[in-house]
Amino acid sequence: MIFRSIRDVSIPAIGLGTWDLRGSQCAQTVSFALQNGYSHVDTAAYYENESEVGDGIRASGMNRPDLFLTTKVWWDQLAADAFSTSAETSLRKLQTDYVDLLLVHWPNPDIPLAETIGALVEAKDRGLARSIGVSNYPSALLRQAQDLAGGQLVTNQVEYHPFLSQRTLLQTTQDLGMALTAYCPIVKGRVDQEGLFRDLAEKYGKSPVQITLRWHVQQPNVIAIPKSSNPDRLKANIEIFDFELDSDEMAQISALGRPEGRLINAAWGPVWDPE
Ligand SMILES: NC(=O)c1ccc[n+]([C@@H]2O[C@H](COP(=O)([O-])OP(=O)(O)OC[C@H]3O[C@@H](n4cnc5c(N)ncnc54)[C@H](OP(=O)(O)O)[C@@H]3O)[C@@H](O)[C@H]2O)c1
Repeated sequence: MIFRSIRDVSIPAIGLGTWDLRGSQCAQTVSFALQNGYSHVDTAAYYENESEVGDGIRASGMNRPDLFLTTKVWWDQLAADAFSTSAETSLRKLQTDYVDLLLVHWPNPDIPLAETIGALVEAKDRGLARSIGVSNYPSALLRQAQDLAGGQLVTNQVEYHPFLSQRTLLQTTQDLGMALTAYCPIVKGRVDQEGLFRDLAEKYGKSPVQITLRWHVQQPNVIAIPKSSNPDRLKANIEIFDFELDSDEMAQISALGRPEGRLINAAWGPVWDPE
């Protein structure tokens, strides 16, 4: 595993996504992942699986300091009091005293940004979170948020994969000294329709999904959080540290990115950066 060092925080470059994992399957998946090389788990209040994620962490036997755990506050809970209650409830469900990273899940234009970022910083000051960040923030809003947070935000979690260009936002996160955490990093498992991935997979003896994850981690300060509930695919998704794409191959994959390649088009989403 490689780690991203952002400010004083060390974040494993691959984490386990847990969207749509529920019940015992969620707990078993988290436990299996932590026993098989993962040390970074991504959840959210909205996923309604924090209790099961907590059960999986306990069942894994992993020591809490060895785990990097992220949760998020949903976009209708961004007023100061609601924010604080959401973060406290998440910790109770996750059966932990702190998360390693607390994110604002989506921006909400009806609640002042200063109030939300103030509540986020307060959660860190109270020790509920070791580090803080945001999710689904376009560049202009991200700059304002980082300013309001006094430079403490460590990442912006957004959709990013070979078919969605994020050139502008990547540059913004780098300018602000932050990481970019890629969600839907493997295009929901649908990368292998593209010939380039099949060719590179053959060359390196890897799968198209592994080629995609390798492309993510070879970019500066990019983190990817693929989800799988399948033991073989879970293991395969971190078996990407024994080969290297060359600069031409990196560029060829990056060239596939299109602004219209977005899979998640939430009605409450922001206006994204023009590409
Ligand atoms: N901040 C946000 O607004 C936001 C939005 C969306 C997602 N997220 C986070 O990002 C995580 C990842 O995104 P995602 O789950 O939507 O999409 P994803 O990770 O790109 O894809 C997950 C899908 O790919 C399949 N898969 C996994 N490994 C595979 C492999 N090696 N080969 C073929 N198929 C494979 C999985 O099926 P199997 O389980 O059957 O393997 C699953 O259907 C989420 O789980 C969540 O934690 C955040």
